[in-house]
Amino acid sequence: MRTLQYDAEATRRLVAVYRTPDVAAQREAFAAALALQAGEHVLDVGAGPGLLALLLAERVGPRGKVCGVDISEPLLAYARSLTAGRPQLCWLKADATSLPLADSEFDAAISTQVLEYVADVDAALAELHRVLRPQGRLVVVDTDWDSIVWATPDRARHERVMASWEAHAPHPRLPRTLAARLAGAGFELRRTEVMPLYNPSACEDSYSRQMVALIADFVARAEGGHAADASAWADELNQEAAAGRWFFSLNRYLFVATRC
Ligand SMILES: C[S@@+](CC[C@H](N)C(=O)[O-])C[C@H]1O[C@@H](n2cnc3c(N)ncnc32)[C@H](O)[C@@H]1O
Repeated sequence: MRTLQYDAEATRRLVAVYRTPDVAAQREAFAAALALQAGEHVLDVGAGPGLLALLLAERVGPRGKVCGVDISEPLLAYARSLTAGRPQLCWLKADATSLPLADSEFDAAISTQVLEYVADVDAALAELHRVLRPQGRLVVVDTDWDSIVWATPDRARHERVMASWEAHAPHPRLPRTLAARLAGAGFELRRTEVMPLYNPSACEDSYSRQMVALIADFVARAEGGHAADASAWADELNQEAAAGRWFFSLNRYLFVATRC
């Protein structure tokens, strides 16, 4: 199975999605859920383009430290250039399941839209537990792709495209298992919340409009030959948008926990 990989073009598409107002508003809520204090040390696992790490750096201030970890060189390069000149930010290339960091090093840690891409989720949670100090705070956010609602005229084709898109992550329905996984890794769950992305109109600068190209590109290259479906699906959605018809929603789930 080929999961989502980030070359220069996929990085550009991800950044376009992550800069939409929908995702920017959620990012503020994710950072708020960590309840950071000035001077704290915080870890962002799977930090991607660095937009969340920037927010975290503002909250911990010049005496604090934000460490961003990611496995993708193109995304790390983007993050490094975005955050250049901010001494409290550091970047590491590493796998979430094997962090080159000391035990109990951080006051807080966050991993948003990452664990669904990590084959061994429990190993990643064990690493988050190891590097957090006792009572350190953890925020995890992931999507359940069963929650998607997308108005498309050709339902059969849409379902084929979504079935192929499932392969983009090893855990497309991770949130429903996260409470038990967090407890198993030694965390106490404090709060959990559903965070919908809801696009009831065809705004160009919305999460779902920006996701069309990213999904179509992945499905076109997926195993099983879905290129024709992917391009017809994207064309149809773009026509729907041009006609002013659009309805989309998708749920992300937020978990706030503390290290026991
Ligand atoms: C959808 S992006 C989310 C980026 C960021 N957390 C955010 O919410 O803006 C997923 C990120 O997880 C990273 N990633 C996936 N598997 C990983 C792993 N095993 N270890 C570290 N990072 C990983 C990807 O490279 C990518 O940057």
